Amino acid sequence: MTKVLMVCLGNICRSPLAEGILKSKVDSSKVFVDSAGTSGYHDGEPPDPRSIAIAKAYGIDIRNQKSRKFQVQDFDRFDFIYVMDKSNYNNIIRQAEAKYQIEKVTLLLEEVKLGISEVPDPYYGGPQGFENVYQMIDVACSTIAEKLT
Ligand code: 4NP
Repeated sequence: MTKVLMVCLGNICRSPLAEGILKSKVDSSKVFVDSAGTSGYHDGEPPDPRSIAIAKAYGIDIRNQKSRKFQVQDFDRFDFIYVMDKSNYNNIIRQAEAKYQIEKVTLLLEEVKLGISEVPDPYYGGPQGFENVYQMIDVACSTIAEKLT
């Protein structure tokens, strides 16, 4: 079983979408997908209603996800850790205790050539931001799913 963790700041907007989208593209008997936030601000909460809505518009149900904070143990529980932006990257890397752990962490958009390296935080914007973020994550997850299968 390959295990993939998607990480953003709050684990209510971007990484729940990344979790739901990647799950929709892989065989769940071979690939386990989870998500977490670096902050813990929204611990136990479901995804933001705007993420739930955009996922639903594309046939993906993320309503049952619950926000949780990234833990140092996640380095050993997961094979690949994809972060949405450089701030997430720096936060996670700071907690690593060994080089092999750092090597598991990649910016999600490094998987694709979109000319942008970070998935922007859509939290303070409108619905267009969520559509934009959905499209970027979707392209990256297609590449990841191909690599994993
Ligand atoms: P996310 O978005 O990191 O994509 O889940 C955010 C959600 C909440 C906050 C910031 C970003 N916040 O500051 O509460």
